[in-house]
Amino acid sequence: MKTLDGNSVVFGLQWGDEGKGKIVDYIAERADIVVRYCGGANAGHTVRIGGDKYSTHLLPVGVFRPGMMNLIGNGVVLEPAKLFEEIDGFIARGVSISPQNLRVSYKTHLVMPYHKLEDGARENSSQGGGIGTTRRGIGPSYADKMQRATAIRVADLVREDKLKQLIAKVVTERNKVLAALYGLPPLDWNAVFEEHREHGRRLKPFVDDVGHLLIAAHAAGKRIVFEGAHAALLDVDHGTYPYVTSSSCSALGLFTGAGVPPRLVSNYIGIMKAYSTRVGGGPFPTEQDNEIGSYIRERGNEYGTTTRRPRRCGWFDAVAVKYSADLCGATEITLTLLDVLGGLKDLRVCTAYKHNGAILDYFRADMDVLAEVEPVYETLPGWEDEISGAKSFNDLPLQARKYVERLEAIIGVKISMVSVGAERSQTLMR
Ligand code: GDP
Ligand code: IMO
Ligand code: MG
Repeated sequence: MKTLDGNSVVFGLQWGDEGKGKIVDYIAERADIVVRYCGGANAGHTVRIGGDKYSTHLLPVGVFRPGMMNLIGNGVVLEPAKLFEEIDGFIARGVSISPQNLRVSYKTHLVMPYHKLEDGARENSSQGGGIGTTRRGIGPSYADKMQRATAIRVADLVREDKLKQLIAKVVTERNKVLAALYGLPPLDWNAVFEEHREHGRRLKPFVDDVGHLLIAAHAAGKRIVFEGAHAALLDVDHGTYPYVTSSSCSALGLFTGAGVPPRLVSNYIGIMKAYSTRVGGGPFPTEQDNEIGSYIRERGNEYGTTTRRPRRCGWFDAVAVKYSADLCGATEITLTLLDVLGGLKDLRVCTAYKHNGAILDYFRADMDVLAEVEPVYETLPGWEDEISGAKSFNDLPLQARKYVERLEAIIGVKISMVSVGAERSQTLMR
């Protein structure tokens, strides 16, 4: 385990599920605080510790390290029932979670029942033309945040007098919209209020000022890891819009999403898997909807952590990853799931696109362009051996090392760690 000086952000360079959870857990060994700064329960981060598997959706993965402080920043959208379900599930498995090791920003916005109804109804009514969301109410909650008049924050949740009026107003308004657009029956605002009053009472001891805590912790010499969710290509501004999530989930979102200035963060650790995957709709130039894709899906267990949907699989897209690495200012990269490619005779890497007869050697986050491009591939030799038992980078077969070196050369950022299995120990430093 190497020690990184300064604070680090871990973020996805593709379309999510790159193994961010595993890497945050790994580098958090030398940290004091882990912070989530974007998204909500649409994320699914998996860590494997000594044979036990834990999947988190809202909680930072630092909860599995005793003594670590975990923070949920204002950039997150929080569904209180989901948070408590997650907390109770982990407590039942012997993980300690209390205000001693978990705090939530008072500025964090809530995901409410009508957000989930709207998300699901919109997906259903779009008859295959939907975004393929996780139906966790994420988009409607962020829409309310920007709309302001209909938003509810953690600060409101813990003020019972204000909460009642707010929920009565918003639910009454939202019932009209849900009935008119989707023919949905009305929600009982009083029942919604009573449920959330209980959530507020339970959440109150966890509520804090996350930005203030982080700035003070940094001044006191504590080390912070910012846990990105989703990935740069799912970022609402810079991803493959509209097939994106609704938050600023590239590394750039951490400053507003946690409430800290850029100078606090020195290490920008991009995570990429050795191939590409995507869940939900949207263009995917290197997709292999064939036996190659199935081979990767089965070996990599590429089924959604949150929705169990089979993930779409394809070859590594270096054009897309270079874009993400440049956008986020990656200072180093961790390559994950390299073991999954074992047994394939030849490996392909997309190094450019062909578009309208011309070569496009940089990524355009424009779905119309991406739907029309044809990938230009470079072929590299694969390896037969099972590499998940490797203890050092030099243990890897020559072809695997060459593959890593080639990706590094194309992207132009040092690949400092390589992951060959889901366990903490299956991580190789370079
Ligand atoms: P995240 O959303 O980026 O945290 O990633 P997910 O947890 O959704 O998906 C990554 C999956 O790959 C999880 O099941 C991890 O346990 C697993 N995983 C992580 N790194 C490796 C690796 O190097 N090899 C293998 N085989 N699995 C890995
Ligand atoms: P982690 O943090 C993979 C995708 C959804 C859908 C789109 C919009 O585990 O990497 P949403 O429910 O956010 O409105 O859905 O974004 N998506 C993810 N795909 N991993 C994720 O998170 C994702 N979070 C959102 O599948 O295509
Ligand atoms: Mg995931």
